[in-house]
Amino acid sequence: MNPEADVLLRLEGVSRSFPGPPEVLALRDADLTVVRGDYVSIMGPSGSGKSTMLNMLGLLDRPTVGRYSLAGQDTAPLKDRDRTRLRGRMIGFVFQSFHLLARRSVLDNVMLSMIYGGVPKAQRRQRAWGALEQVSMTHRAAFYPGTLSGGERQRAAIARAVASEPELLLADEPTGNLDSGTSGEVLEMLEGLNQAGLAVIVVTHDPEIAAAARRRFQMRDGRLKEVL
Ligand SMILES: Nc1ncnc2c1ncn2[C@@H]1O[C@H](COP(=O)(O)OP(=O)(O)O)[C@@H](O)[C@H]1O
Ligand SMILES: [Mg+2]
Repeated sequence: MNPEADVLLRLEGVSRSFPGPPEVLALRDADLTVVRGDYVSIMGPSGSGKSTMLNMLGLLDRPTVGRYSLAGQDTAPLKDRDRTRLRGRMIGFVFQSFHLLARRSVLDNVMLSMIYGGVPKAQRRQRAWGALEQVSMTHRAAFYPGTLSGGERQRAAIARAVASEPELLLADEPTGNLDSGTSGEVLEMLEGLNQAGLAVIVVTHDPEIAAAARRRFQMRDGRLKEVL
């Protein structure tokens, strides 16, 4: 029995400051351990550091102080190219504003993400189709994002995030642009993906989404605190 093998990621004393002036301490001395298949929610007011935290976890940003290890390896010595590769292989992102390419079909949006996920070309179409099936979006595969409802766009974005079968899904206010009915659908999808083994970290203002997580955190002024 080796509990370390279950650890997906770990932050130890991580801070992130943005040099000013004025200097902003966006993340202060964060400690966090997330196990494989975990389900974590983070709430907090605007400006409290939630996106900074997700950017750090998603290897889009680096700590100014402290240590971040992902899948057992310290991320500090990794070169940008290796960080990009690790991110593509292990991490899927979902954003509030969907971030779909407007001039590409839904299917192309999902397929393109797999280039970074290291999925061989021959498998991309099939995997994209499978991901669209998971979010009940195959009937929209040929549509352009601009012709879809908000909920459909977010489902397409979720398909894109999971198509390369990452271990970790990072969602930054995924229902921030959706009405409550559609938010419920997105919540069900996150829960289904988590039950299938994906670790989920969701930043949200929606108490219902936060409550669905196995562990809940609150951020305030750059400090992360578990809600017990
Ligand atoms: N690239 C940046 N440069 C300077 N300040 C930043 C940058 N990104 C975020 N900040 C600041 O860090 C703080 C936390 O921001 P953010 O993580 O986006 O908060 P949240 O997502 O909780 O609204 C804010 O004060 C914000 O202005
Ligand atoms: Mg934010």
